[in-house]
Amino acid sequence: MSTRPRISARISAISESATLAVDSKAKAMKAAGRPVIGFGAGEPDFPTPGYIVEAAIEAAGNPRFHKYTPAGGLPELKQAIAAKTRRDSGYAVEAAQVLVTNGGKQAVYEAFATLLDPGDEVVVIAPYWTTYPEAIKLAGGVQVDVVTDESTGYLATVEQLEAARTERTKVLLFVSPSNPTGAVYSREETVAIGRWAAEHGLWVVTDEIYEHLVYGDAEFTSIATAVPELGDRVVILNGVAKTYAMTGWRVGWLIGPADVVKAATNLQSHATSNVSNVAQMAALAAVSGDLSAVAEMRTAFDRRRQTMVRMLNEIPGVFCPEPKGAFYAYPSVKELIGKELRGKRPQSSAELAELILEEAEVAVVPGEAFGTPGYFRLSYALGDDDLVEGVSRLAKLLSEAR
Ligand SMILES: Cc1ncc(COP(=O)(O)O)c(C=O)c1O
Repeated sequence: MSTRPRISARISAISESATLAVDSKAKAMKAAGRPVIGFGAGEPDFPTPGYIVEAAIEAAGNPRFHKYTPAGGLPELKQAIAAKTRRDSGYAVEAAQVLVTNGGKQAVYEAFATLLDPGDEVVVIAPYWTTYPEAIKLAGGVQVDVVTDESTGYLATVEQLEAARTERTKVLLFVSPSNPTGAVYSREETVAIGRWAAEHGLWVVTDEIYEHLVYGDAEFTSIATAVPELGDRVVILNGVAKTYAMTGWRVGWLIGPADVVKAATNLQSHATSNVSNVAQMAALAAVSGDLSAVAEMRTAFDRRRQTMVRMLNEIPGVFCPEPKGAFYAYPSVKELIGKELRGKRPQSSAELAELILEEAEVAVVPGEAFGTPGYFRLSYALGDDDLVEGVSRLAKLLSEAR
């Protein structure tokens, strides 16, 4: 019998998506009749707007869309994404610089697969979204973390980034608004970071999927537009999921210089070919339409954000800086680790999250999933009543910690 491992080392090294795991455990408990409130999901609780759904229904009846289409995306969608990018962030791109992907996730994978050789280093600001490390690892890249915390609202400085730079650094990953922290860099901070990257000849991969979800006086700044010195060494990742409540439709995109986009399109042509034409036509209606749907969601998210942050900060041992964007709060629970709670003494945020799910029937994602143990991520993209009930349960349970 062969002694060779059944699963390759490369794929064995990939862990399950912790956010999806929490979500599916909560859904399974719910299906079994337990009144679980889930703060795990990274998706709007709104349905996709009707005019977008209508476009998909129409496309499904069109024989042109029953066939293969170009692997890199429908020409009219690429054109519309280029126009939308000019409209929303002032960044001028041609349709040839757009690759339509199967959700933002595929764009993340393809960006790193296309840019990285084994050993190339990527500077990643922690806490980070759970998918980036796996995409970097799969490409043979080496992730170098710059760890931030609640004391700075999870914002990194140029000095911290510089301390992480080596001869092997090729890419800076820049995500604002951030998942999981909701941190949003100001224009000044964005420019300073972009100029630092440009000065050292680094590529910037920037994930702009939460561009339209910023609150209060926070503003979204596209690093690509704000720092022309970066030249063509910028790759933008984006998609329709969060802006138009379209997580299930699976349409995202990657924007970059023509050679990078061509190479990534070659990869996609073998991996998945074109994204479902029906979903692409829905995305075309989304990006060519106005932003009223996201404006409506933003109002609801902003209200829920304020309620959640206030309630979390009232819990002894919990501290939550105000998130300025996306739809997540990222409180520190470090003071509660190791305390006695319902006969147990959780030694990590992961153990505490498990205890909370069992005892309070509330699902949160532990900071371990985002590279920083000692924290929880709670999505506030759920109904107001559930949100209040869920955080109240959390408060009641955690107030018993001794
Ligand atoms: C920061 C960030 N980028 C990209 C994505 C990918 O979204 P999708 O693959 O659903 O388009 C997500 C989803 O959670 C995200 O939070």
